[in-house]
Amino acid sequence: MTQRAWNFSAGPAMLPGAVIERIQEELPDTNGSGMSAMEMSHRGADFRHIAEAAEADLRELMAIPDDYRVLFLQGGATALFSVLPLNLANGSGRADYVRTGHWSSKAIAEGRRFCQLHIAGDSEENEYTRVPDDYDFDPGADYVHVTPNETIHGLRFPDLPDTGAVPVVADLSSAILSEPINVRDYGLIYAGAQKNIGPAGLCIVIVREDLLTGAREGTPALMDLKAQAGAGSMLNTPPTFAWYVAGLVFQWLKAQGGVEAMAHRNRKKAELLYGAIDGSDFYRNPVVPACRSLMNVPFFLADSALEDRFKSEARDLGLLTLGGHRAVGGLRASIYNAMPLEGVQALVDFMADFERRYG
Ligand SMILES: Cc1ncc(COP(=O)(O)O)c(C=O)c1O
Repeated sequence: MTQRAWNFSAGPAMLPGAVIERIQEELPDTNGSGMSAMEMSHRGADFRHIAEAAEADLRELMAIPDDYRVLFLQGGATALFSVLPLNLANGSGRADYVRTGHWSSKAIAEGRRFCQLHIAGDSEENEYTRVPDDYDFDPGADYVHVTPNETIHGLRFPDLPDTGAVPVVADLSSAILSEPINVRDYGLIYAGAQKNIGPAGLCIVIVREDLLTGAREGTPALMDLKAQAGAGSMLNTPPTFAWYVAGLVFQWLKAQGGVEAMAHRNRKKAELLYGAIDGSDFYRNPVVPACRSLMNVPFFLADSALEDRFKSEARDLGLLTLGGHRAVGGLRASIYNAMPLEGVQALVDFMADFERRYG
């Protein structure tokens, strides 16, 4: 295979090289079908086998209990920002949201259109450098929404807040499968695929069955989670190729030793990178250490005028997509499951060299 770059993009993000090679190899004839997965009828036996195997592997990787349904939907994580209140805020009509950065703010802006939304915890005043110190949960809320890993601010919840009997709904787009979680701690988990799962165009939803009581009247059919669950995520043609690639990523994860093994690797990668940042006055990460993301590491140069030079010299070495999100600027390295320690080491070596020359 041709030389692949170290791609630090936040998403769509790097996929494991072994998965890319496997796609390449079996594209013309997948599983003896004589066609690629993207050419298969979603209702035929060939694709059904792929779809079922992907779900079974995800269930095994995350130890998903039997009373949770797994859905493979379209519309990205953003579609869920409206799907959630339309489907879940149908008791009191009230929902609590925790604001910890860019993506939870997006979920809040959309959620407000469809339910009585209350911000029950807020990191805005500390500029999203740590998770909220306290919460003001409404025991009558239909759910509490959290974003356990904020992709842009690089903020991670060390522990979930205690919401009592109110189900936690979590946007795990940038953290799913990066470390073990107890699915039972959540009523619903959703994740856009394009970071730790596969290609964009797919959003995975893991939802406790008793929460599937039906969407409120007027909800578009495709946004009705109960109807989607009843139709095996096939109310219409699902994103078949993305589903197939997700299945290959799940197989790869199992071969790597599962989520536990990934967490061990991810901690080593994060320690290496944060160590390089903290060990110098030239680089800075503003997030308090206990709340730092293992997946997305934003950092700033003491002299921001050097940023463009940093990115361009990095690019020349095959270290790609290191610009921070336009909402916060600076730099950011996303180091999802597919990024090996070797890639992070190459970045850290470059950072040390850059500092030597310009520090
Ligand atoms: C935490 C989080 N939530 C939601 C989204 C939006 O995802 P999508 O573009 O799939 O709608 C992103 C995208 O980067 C994200 O990181």
